[in-house]
Amino acid sequence: MSTFSHFATDAIHVGQEPEQWKSMAVVPPISMASTFKQHGPAEHAGFEYSRSGNPTRKCLETCIAALEDGKHGLVFSSGLAAMQTITFLLQHGDHIVSMNDVYGGSNRFFRHCATRMGIETTLVDCRDLALIKNALKPNTKMIWIETPTNPTMMLVDIEEVAKLIHKEAPQAFVVVDNTFMSPYFQRPLNLGADMVVHSLTKYMNGHSDVVMGAVVVNDDKYAERLRFFQNACGPVPSPFDCFLVNRGLKTLHLRMKEHMKNGLAVAKFLEENPRVEKVIHPGLKSHPQHELAMKQMKGFSGMVTFYLKGGLKESREFLKNLKVFTLAESLGGYESLVELPSLMTHASVPPNEREQLQISDSLVRLSVGIEDEEDLIEDLDQALKAAVQL
Ligand SMILES: Cc1ncc(COP(=O)(O)O)c(C=O)c1O
Repeated sequence: MSTFSHFATDAIHVGQEPEQWKSMAVVPPISMASTFKQHGPAEHAGFEYSRSGNPTRKCLETCIAALEDGKHGLVFSSGLAAMQTITFLLQHGDHIVSMNDVYGGSNRFFRHCATRMGIETTLVDCRDLALIKNALKPNTKMIWIETPTNPTMMLVDIEEVAKLIHKEAPQAFVVVDNTFMSPYFQRPLNLGADMVVHSLTKYMNGHSDVVMGAVVVNDDKYAERLRFFQNACGPVPSPFDCFLVNRGLKTLHLRMKEHMKNGLAVAKFLEENPRVEKVIHPGLKSHPQHELAMKQMKGFSGMVTFYLKGGLKESREFLKNLKVFTLAESLGGYESLVELPSLMTHASVPPNEREQLQISDSLVRLSVGIEDEEDLIEDLDQALKAAVQL
């Protein structure tokens, strides 16, 4: 599969120019100052107060925008803070259409937080354009999609959704949560989306030691409004965390290649395993939207979802026996993680919605890391043997 041109060079150099610092530091300094000296009243040298702007944050924002091939990048104290800030672009009485299978926290945000702002959300299966069209209302202002979805790995055709919305609901904008793919494998803005959102906590940082979010947009007006809310509401990350994510980005391309290799190897191993009911990975030919994956993605991350044979008892036993995979929420770090969405990341999704999405107690989500492939497969093999009797 091909890659986006200059990706690694941009990740390493854009926003990092040594000439911007008097010291000519090759690595952007961590600028911890909360405030900056002004030449005269309201005459500052680019920064006045760290909530409204910070030099270390600016390096990261510039780099992330380049990686998504977008014009403006903004970072926030978490992925959900980025989501909340985007939602501030809407008003009381507006309407959102979203994918029925979104990250549990996004679902919770729509149900418990957006509703308090007087904003209603309709969740539909966004694989079906007719369902999206039916859900649109004159007050629909935002379409929020994730692709692949979390955890059932359904794909949404970004290009087709963007075309539909721009034609049928031009008052609305399309947001794609690109957390699962990272811009190394998928660039939603190039496919017609208006905004890209990230939980940088995941692949972008890649080291499981920061919680942060980002938005990338091309439109100057949206960027200006988002910057206003970034400052007015204040969900900004610390300069030290910005430094860490910026550092993580320098190896994103290397990590993503390894995640893809190990993820595919694990998916193929599981698909042939008699203790496994079904594997969902967009890189497998058995995935019902494999063709769409080949069209809109340049590769696959380390996310693998599968159903083991049995129920909660077998799942618990499997999780207990794993030694290399760590039982923990989150994903996208260099280390392999495993979780049970029904009791963990998606416990906040109402049971009837979980049932409809087939998020059962035998559905296991893996975030395959970059350890040695044979160790990962051996670990899964022994835990499956311990948990599922044939
Ligand atoms: C796909 C996706 N989007 C958004 C989020 C929220 O990001 P954060 O945890 O950084 O607030 C998550 C977190 O797990 C996620 O998996």
